[in-house]
Parts: sequence; structure tokens; C-alpha cells
Amino acid sequence: MKVFEKTGRFSAFSLSIILSACIFSIELGIMYFFHASPKISPALEAFLDSTILVITLYPLLYLFGIAPLLRENQIRKKLEQRLRTSEERYKSLAETSPDCIKLFDKDGKLVYMNSGGLKEHRFRNIEEAKQCDLLKGILAEDRAKFTEAFQKAKEGRSTTIEIRHTREGSVREACLETLVPVSDANGEFAYVFGVSRDISHLKELERTREALIQMLIHDLGNPLSVVSGGLEYLNEKVRGQGPEDTDQILDLCVKGTREITAMISELLDIGKLEEGKMFLKHEKIQVSGLIEDVFRDFSVMAESRKITLRSRLAPPASQISGDVSLIKRVFSNLIGNAFKFAPEGSLIEIAAVPQVKNKSVFFSVRDEGPGIPSEYHKKIFEKFIQVQDPGIKKSSGKGLGLTFCKMAVEAHGGEIWVESGAGKGSVFYFELPVDPPVSKKE
Ligand SMILES: Nc1ncnc2c1ncn2[C@@H]1O[C@H](COP(=O)(O)OP(=O)(O)O)[C@@H](O)[C@H]1O
Ligand SMILES: [Mg+2]
Repeated sequence: MKVFEKTGRFSAFSLSIILSACIFSIELGIMYFFHASPKISPALEAFLDSTILVITLYPLLYLFGIAPLLRENQIRKKLEQRLRTSEERYKSLAETSPDCIKLFDKDGKLVYMNSGGLKEHRFRNIEEAKQCDLLKGILAEDRAKFTEAFQKAKEGRSTTIEIRHTREGSVREACLETLVPVSDANGEFAYVFGVSRDISHLKELERTREALIQMLIHDLGNPLSVVSGGLEYLNEKVRGQGPEDTDQILDLCVKGTREITAMISELLDIGKLEEGKMFLKHEKIQVSGLIEDVFRDFSVMAESRKITLRSRLAPPASQISGDVSLIKRVFSNLIGNAFKFAPEGSLIEIAAVPQVKNKSVFFSVRDEGPGIPSEYHKKIFEKFIQVQDPGIKKSSGKGLGLTFCKMAVEAHGGEIWVESGAGKGSVFYFELPVDPPVSKKE
């Protein structure tokens, strides 16, 4: 392309020189004719002289004056053409996408929406979409998520969120919405680019899969209790009487069956809590009594592991309402984890501190173990997630304990989180309201 452009410039320049040379020779001829004639007027002579000067200067004028201007114009046209082509290309990409693609200005006003999006939202044209408040089409509970993601995009961060849309009052679909900041030519933030994908069919599949798994887990319970009962019976009858290794094999089988039984009951409980189907008792619980009970349960283990177990008790009057067995299981899981990771000679502290202002109680379990890298602080509360770090020994469990804790705490209207850093020990906190909301599904 460049060679062609250069060749074009060269031929225009040479043509202008050849033309100038021709005109110059003709003028020389005329000059000679008039100079030979004594009757030449001084005005005509001056005119001819200036014409010769202009013709001589013409190639230079062309090269340094007119030619660059012409070329600039040519380049601008080509660039404009290229820009139009590329704009058309990207527009057609956006237009053919089944996802809803949109562009907002800094103030959140809609600038563009592709036809997929217009169809999805049932807008007849972009003007109608611009008139509408898109936020109102999002389920009320999810609107804050969208506004927060938009704010993040304004601060230069891309975010993907899951939101639900509504139509005529009913929840319509789940969407995965990605909001990305877009800068102008000067690198200044100018727009927010959004892509949203309907994932309602995936959600439906996920629900079916979950229901199937839940059914399988439930159905495993019966045959497993038969195996477990048989093993317990054999354990009593055959122990010390069978051939060599029998006792050892029996021990392994009993241990394995207990682990599977515990895992199944944990998964069933998590499933029930997720669906809000677990019946929660609302008993009055003395916080100090609760801490004392938990402390007692673990004091023997602490002694055998040479770990100092310490408790910080809330004032005796403090009490909460909730399901005591569930809350104790939350504590057991957290302290069990602390024991798994705490080194010999270290300290584990359990505490309960009432928050009068929040009408809640802060519970915590602190250990001096290896800590948890920050990227795992949220993930470890998901099912089957365990920290994968060469520096941290792998837990013997299945990664369900903290999921159960989260579900149980949330069922009480509370919150659970961890504060930790690699090598700094961990503190698991959970905050429970003094009066948890009564579940509608109970
Ligand atoms: N106190 C702790 N110190 C370090 N890591 C922890 C602690 N508690 C939990 N973890 C990490 O979180 C993971 C998930 O814990 P959990 O859900 O209780 O499952 P499990 O104990 O069965 O592995 C653990 O496998 C471990 O990697
Ligand atoms: Mg655990």
C-alpha cells in the first residue's frame, strides 16, 4: 500500500514537472519571438517574466504546498473509510449476538443497545429503550448489586454479577451481567459497556442436578445404615477371634462407614438449610452456658494435644434465641478445624462478645495455625473447597464443615467470616442476632 502511495505521489510530481517544462518552452518561444521584435511592450514583457517565474516555481509549490494538502485529504478519507468499515464490523458483531449488549454514558444513561437486547426487553426501538429506566426491570433485591457494579466500572474495575429480571411482577430469568469501563481516545473514562447473558436454563439444570444429588444422598442413607449396623455387630462378635488382621480391617471399615454417614448427614443438612426446609427451634440460649459446654467438649482434646484452650465469656445475663444444637455444631466445626491446624503448644481461644447496639452477639474462634490465604476467605465457605497450598497441610475432611456453618448461621439471620493471613493464624467470627427472624417456611 505504501509503495503504491509513493508511486502515486511521484507520478503526480513528474507530470507537473513535464507540464511545467512544456509550458516553459512554449513561453520561451513566445519570448524569443517578441524579443526579436522591437515592438514588444514593457507590460507584456513583465507579464511574460512573471509567468516564467510562476511556472518555474510551480513544481516546488506543488511538492511543498499543494501536494501535502491533497495527500492529507486523501489519507483522511481513507482513514474515515477504514473507521466506518471497522465500526460497521463491530456493530454487526454486536447486532448478531444473542446476548444483550449495551453502552451507558457516565451518568448511567443508555447510549446503545443491540437488537438482541431490544428484543429481550421487548422494546420496539432504541428510543423506547432510552426512555425506560432499566434498573426497574431488575428484581428489587438485586438492584443494589447492579448499582454497585456500575460504580465499580466508573472506578475502572470490571465486574460480573448475577441478577434476576422481572416482568409484570414475576421473576423472569437469571442473568450474568458483566460491566466494563470504556475510555475515550484521551484515556478518560467515558462509557460503561455491559453484556448480559440469560442463564435461566443453566439455573434450571443446576436445580435439577441438585435435586437429583439430594435424592441420591438421601437414598444412600438406608443401605449405609444396614452396612454400618452389620459392621457394628461383627465388631462385637468377631473381635479378637478371627484370623490375623481381622480387627484392624474391622476398625478401618467402621471408621470409613462413620465418615460416610457423617458426610451424608452433613450434605442432607446443608441441602435442607439451602432450601429453607430445616426446622429451626427458637430456644432461649444462655451465651455463657453455651461457651462453657463447648469448652468442656474440647478440653480433653486440648490436653492430649498440649494446646491451651481459653475462653472469653460474655456477661452471664447475655442470651440469644436460636437452635442450640445447630449453634453448638457451628462451634464444634470451627474449633475442630482450629485443632486440625493448630501446632502443639499453641493457643485456641473461643469468645462471645455481646453487641448491645446491634442487638447481636459476636462469637469467635481464634487459632495460631498456618492461617488462610486471602483468596480463600470467601471460597472456603463453599461446598468441597479446601485450601490448596503447598505450605499448608491438607485437611482430612471433605470441605463441608464451613458450608454447614454458613448455612446454619444464615438460617439464624446471622453472618460468618474469617480474618486471617498466611502464617498469621485464623479468627473465625460469626454474629448472631439476639432475636433471629422466624423463617416463613417453618
Ligand atoms: N482454622 C483453620 N486454619 C487453616 N485452615 C482452615 C481453618 N479452618 C478451615 N480451614 C481451611 O478451610 C477448608 C474448609 O474447611 P471445612 O469446610 O471445615 O472442611 P474440612 O474441615 O472438612 O476440610 C479446610 O480444608 C482448610 O483448608
Ligand atoms: Mg472442617
